[in-house]
Amino acid sequence: MQLHFAPLQGYTTALYRRLHHTMWGGIAYYYTPFVRIEKGDFRRRDISDIAPENNEGVPVVPQMLLRDVEEMHRLTELFLKNGYNRADINMGCPFPPVALHGRGAGLIARHDDVQRILQATQQYPEMQFSVKMRLGWQHNDEWQAVADILNDAPLTHITIHPRIGKQQYKGSVDMEAFDTFYNQCTLPIVYNGDIETIDNITHLAQQYPRLQGIMIGRGLLARPYLPQLLNNTTPDAHNIIKRTQLFHDTLYNELQQTSQGDSQLLQRTHALWQYFLPHAPHKARKAILKSTSPQRYTTAVAQLFDTWITDNIAL
Ligand SMILES: Cc1cc2nc3c(=O)[nH]c(=O)nc-3n(C[C@H](O)[C@H](O)[C@H](O)COP(=O)(O)O)c2cc1C
Repeated sequence: MQLHFAPLQGYTTALYRRLHHTMWGGIAYYYTPFVRIEKGDFRRRDISDIAPENNEGVPVVPQMLLRDVEEMHRLTELFLKNGYNRADINMGCPFPPVALHGRGAGLIARHDDVQRILQATQQYPEMQFSVKMRLGWQHNDEWQAVADILNDAPLTHITIHPRIGKQQYKGSVDMEAFDTFYNQCTLPIVYNGDIETIDNITHLAQQYPRLQGIMIGRGLLARPYLPQLLNNTTPDAHNIIKRTQLFHDTLYNELQQTSQGDSQLLQRTHALWQYFLPHAPHKARKAILKSTSPQRYTTAVAQLFDTWITDNIAL
C-alpha cells in the first residue's frame, strides 16, 4: 500500500516536501499544490515551487489546475520543460471562484472538456498522467457521467476524495458513494480524505484490497511521522518526538531565513501549527499560538516538546 502526500496550498511547499522526505520518508509521491494559468501566464511562485533545483531527489508530481485542453497543453509543456514525467490533473478543487469557472470540481460536469483533456494526454507518451477528483461539484453521482471516459484514459491512477465540491471540507466523507466508485472504476485507485491514524489506514486497506494507495493531507501535517508508525508495532516514542522536534526546528530555521521580519515569520509558524500536532498538550499549544515574538515562540515550542516527553503522551 503506497502512501501519497496530498497537495496542500500554502503548506506543502517545496521546502516542506524536501524536509519531510529527508527526515521521514515512506511517501511514494509528493504532489505539488496546483499550478495554474492566471491572466494568461504562470504564477512566479508556482514556477519556483516546481523548479528542479528546489525539488532535487524528492519524488514530486506537479499538479495542474485547468479549464480546457489549451491550458492542459501549456501546463504539460511547462512540467516537461522542468524535467517531470508525471503530472496530476486537478478535478477536485472546491473553491467557488475556481469551480464556478469550470476548473477543479467544476470540471467534472464539463464532459466534453474532460474527454478532450484526457484524449490529449495520449500526445505525451513521455508523461504519465493521473487525476485527483471529488465525486462531483453539486451531486455525489456526477462522476458517473465521466466514468467511461476516465476508465478508457491511460491514467496511472485516480485519486478520489469522496466529498462533493459544495461541501468544501465540511461533513463527513461519503463512503457509500466511494464504495460505488471503487466497484465501477477499472483504473488503479488511490483513496483520499480524513485519514488521521494508522488504524484508519489498516482498516481501509483491509476493506478495499484493490486500492493502490492512500493519499493523506491534513493527517500528515498533523503527524508528519505517520509513515514511521506503519508496519512498526513498537515505535520508539522518545526518538520520534525528538525527531519531530528536529523537524520543526529545521523548518523554523529555514522559515526564519526567508521571512521578511518577525511578523511574517510568526504568521508562517502560526499557520503551521493550525494542523501540526493537534494531540500535543493543549496548554503548550495555546502558548505557541499566542506567542508574539520569536523568542516567546521558540520557548513555547521547547516547552511543548518537553511536556510531551515527560507526560508520556501518545504519538
Ligand atoms: C489548505 C488546503 C489546501 C489544499 N490545496 C490543494 C491543492 O492545491 N490541490 C489539490 O488537489 N487539493 C488541495 N487540497 C485538498 C487536499 O489535497 C486533500 O484532498 C483534502 O485535504 C482531503 O484530504 P485530507 O483529509 O487527508 O486532508 C487542499 C486542502 C487544504 C485543507
